[in-house]
Amino acid sequence: MKVVLLGAPGSGKGTQAVNISEWYKIPHISTGDIFRSNIKNGTELGKKAKEYIDKGLLVPDEVTIDIVSDRLKQSDCEKGFILDGFPRTVYQAEKLDEILNEMGATLDVVLNIEVPDSEIITRMGGRRVCTKCGMSYHVVFNPPAEGNVCKNCGEVVIQREDDREETVLQRLSTYHKQTEPLIEYYEKDNKLVTVEGQDNIDDTTSCVKKALGGM
Ligand code: AP5
Ligand code: MG
Repeated sequence: MKVVLLGAPGSGKGTQAVNISEWYKIPHISTGDIFRSNIKNGTELGKKAKEYIDKGLLVPDEVTIDIVSDRLKQSDCEKGFILDGFPRTVYQAEKLDEILNEMGATLDVVLNIEVPDSEIITRMGGRRVCTKCGMSYHVVFNPPAEGNVCKNCGEVVIQREDDREETVLQRLSTYHKQTEPLIEYYEKDNKLVTVEGQDNIDDTTSCVKKALGGM
């Protein structure tokens, strides 16, 4: 199963990707997580990405596309993958088509998780993330384990630096300008399935399951 997850910042892409990854036993590839792990490790890529991420802007295409292209060529992607946060521009989507073409593969589905901006702003303030495995939590809707640690790997969870309200507003604006046009791109390709993501996490997971054909 080859899946792309589309949706605004905070729409629940990371939360739902974890389920899809378990159902199909396919890797969850989040470009945001890759950048954050590079920032944490102080790599050159991390330093470059941080300049853009902290401002709520997109990391330049030429940096991002190469990372995804290398990752998709790894053997664990042969059976499929979930791309979370890539593509984010029409140019990235065109490049993804080229990469998949070279691999003799095509996307099965592009799942678009729709959530109103007002709900997103509420969610981001309560989000906590694991600095080791990237798992997302919410202080009210999906709390981490006792002691503020990740249920998956036991690492301490923190608030993301780009979850400050002014950065969230910029990220939303970046999304509407640069990423939302992908809805039309994949609609034309007959790959798009939209799920409502404003209900609670479990209800959204049920909608995702249905959209993927019941599992
Ligand atoms: P990235 O890490 O991809 O951030 P994003 O797209 O802004 O999305 P988020 O991770 O913020 O949200 P999400 O949809 O995963 O939601 P989550 O499940 O956590 O990218 C970060 C930055 O990296 C970008 O701004 C950009 O600079 C750069 N970047 C990344 N990819 C790039 C690319 N391809 N090109 C260029 N630059 C790129 O859920 C959010 C919160 O809500 C959590 O607290 C969660 O617990 C809670 N929640 C989830 N679902 C529900 C629900 N149904 N009800 C209630 N709460 C819920
Ligand atoms: Mg995410």
